[in-house]
Formats: sequence, structure tokens, C-alpha cells
Amino acid sequence: MPNLSQRTKSFTDSVIRRMTRISLKYEAVNLSQGFPDFDPPKEILDALAVAAHKGPHQYSITWGAQNFREALAAKQSKLMERAIDPNGEIVVTCGSTEAMMAAMMSVTDPGDKVIVFSPFYENYGADTILSSAEPIYVPLYPPEFKFNINELEAAFAKRPKAIILCNPSNPCGKVFTREELGVIADLAKKYDTFVITDEVYEHIVYEPYKHTYIASLPGMFERTISCSSLSKTYSITGWRLGYIIASKEIIETAKKVHDFLTVGAAAPLQEAAVVGLKFGDEYYKDLLDKYTKKRDIFLSGLDSIGISRTTPQGAYYVMLDISEFGYKSDLEFCEVLAEKVGVGAVPGSSFFKESVNHLIRLHFAKKDETLYEALNRLESMRKKMRK
Ligand SMILES: Cc1ncc(COP(=O)(O)O)c(C=O)c1O
Repeated sequence: MPNLSQRTKSFTDSVIRRMTRISLKYEAVNLSQGFPDFDPPKEILDALAVAAHKGPHQYSITWGAQNFREALAAKQSKLMERAIDPNGEIVVTCGSTEAMMAAMMSVTDPGDKVIVFSPFYENYGADTILSSAEPIYVPLYPPEFKFNINELEAAFAKRPKAIILCNPSNPCGKVFTREELGVIADLAKKYDTFVITDEVYEHIVYEPYKHTYIASLPGMFERTISCSSLSKTYSITGWRLGYIIASKEIIETAKKVHDFLTVGAAAPLQEAAVVGLKFGDEYYKDLLDKYTKKRDIFLSGLDSIGISRTTPQGAYYVMLDISEFGYKSDLEFCEVLAEKVGVGAVPGSSFFKESVNHLIRLHFAKKDETLYEALNRLESMRKKMRK
């Protein structure tokens, strides 16, 4: 057999998805891979039932169905404080995952450098490898996960083609302030760099924090490729609906990359999701209230167990400090946790460039009763997990 590609040699399978498989094996409450166990909004499901019978069932326009793009443009124009053109400034993709990949392939050539903040969402490492770009990692320092401006400028001085900005951030829950985004924007302009955002948690930002779209800062729309999706906002992670919003010039290229990668996102699911894109402000307020309550339940439960943890400003992840348990490997800790305690978590090392193995990540996008069950099980952690 000839050699498989060099490009994929350094790949491991996704640790997050692997932890889901381990959770299933031990019947653990799976707080590893970030997806809800509650239903999507009924209106969207009803629309899906209609689409199942009425269609469309054939390919939609490759860059997204017209009614989907129009509804998305109307929603995002309000949020991003700019009139988004549904016909020239949007590509509908198979999730933000494909949006990010298409964005990377649209702006980088092999060998180009890309800034990635660490900790980072696992896929960004793979995205850079698949597009043969070279990551430059810039640390975010706990507890607030702030970057050091000098370190960031030193990274920009290496003349990267792009910076990846996950805001709100998975796994650390950071919401970048307007000032921080201003610093990034100024550096991107100074060093003529693209900004590729991943904003899938844009509607899950806890008080008093606010989400700012970096694309909405002065002079930034032209160089920002805003990626996001419907996965988290409407609890439809399995529908694989995402999008890129950017200037016409960028979108012209992203459309072609997207077309050859996937042809298009699922037509009947786009049709059904339009109803969600048209929800009023009340929906997003309720969504935030729901996640705020889940965050409160989960954080106060963890505090009564007495484990040191991060406080998310946005998204739905918490990192726990497991130093006290004396494990050398956070992966081993997570495997034992799933087996003995019955809770699935992700080893923190899969999110850091630095050598970090004292953190694990849990998520709280679950029904309240699932969270109580997980907390109940975690109470036995000290007894069952000591080395
Ligand atoms: C930061 C981040 N980006 C992207 C995704 C995947 O998004 P999508 O379902 O839109 O591909 C996730 C899923 O957990 C995520 O946490």
C-alpha cells in the first residue's frame, strides 16, 4: 500500500469525541462533548415536519437557500450593526466547523502563519494542519484568561496571515472585552492580518459581560471572516448548519471552497431553521436565562464539593483543577472518572499548547436533572479518585 498523506500523520482522533465514546461505554453522564440533552424549540421541529413532506429535498443553492440567507442577514445585521447583504456577504456551511475550515483555506497558503490563542478549541490545530498553515500560539493567562499585549504583538510581528478568535471562548469561557478586541483589531490592521472568528456562543454571554463582534469595529468588516452556527443557539448541533459572513471579495472565494468541500448544507434543515432565525429578542433572552440558571446550578454544586474551578463569562464550560488527586495524566484521570464516578469530562491538555495536565473540562448544556445527577455523582469524587 502506498503511504498515507504526510499531512494527517500528526493527527490523533478528537479527544472530545473519544471521551463521548468512553462515557457511553461506562454509562457515564456525558459532560464531555458540548451538546444539549434537551429538545430544540418546538417551532423549528414543526417546521422540519412540514419540510419533510413538502421539501426541499434536493440541493439548495450551494452558498445557501435564499430564504435562509435573507433571514440570517436580517438577524445578523441588527446584531453586527451593519447591513449584511444576503446575496453577497454570506455562505451557509455545514456548521461553524466547515465555516472555519473554508475560511482557513480561503485566506492561507501552505506555510502561512496563523495566530491561535491557547487554550483553544481542539479543531483549530487540525484546521491549521489541514490547510498546511503554521500556528503561532499566544497564551491566555488565568484566571481572566487575558493576553499579554507584547506577546501578542510579537506574534503579529511574525507576519501571520490570520488570527483565529474564539469569542466567547471554548474551553475557558472568556468573553473578549471591547478594549481587548480593539487591541487585536489595531494589530490586525497594523500587520495587515485577517481575523477569523468562531462565535458559536454569541448568544450565551452571562451578565454583566457583553458580546462584541470584532467585525463591527471600525475598519474591521473588510478583514474579518465571521464564522458561527445555529448549533448552540437553537440546540441543533446535529443539523450541521453554520455560516460565514464577510466582505464580497472574501465570500467570492469562500463560496468556491465551500462548494468543492461539501456542495451545500442540508436543504430541508435550512428550510426548517428559517423559523428560528426569525425568532424575536425574547427567544435569545430566554435562552440566556436558561443557561444562566444552569450555570448557577452547576457552579454552586461544584463549590459545595469544594473543587477549584474557572468561572465562565460565556459559553457553557467549566474547567476543574484536579491537582489534588495526584494523577500524572489528565487523560487517565478522565477515563477513571468516567468508569468509577460515572461522569464524562475532557482532559484539559487537549486545549493547551503549553504542557498542562491539571485541568479537566465539563459542560453544563444539560437538563437540570442531568446536572443534579452529575453533581450527585461528583460528590464521591474525593473518595473514588484518590491515587
Ligand atoms: C468553539 C466551537 N466552535 C465550533 C464548534 C462546532 O460548531 P458547529 O456545530 O457549528 O460545527 C464547537 C462545538 O463544540 C465549539 O465549541
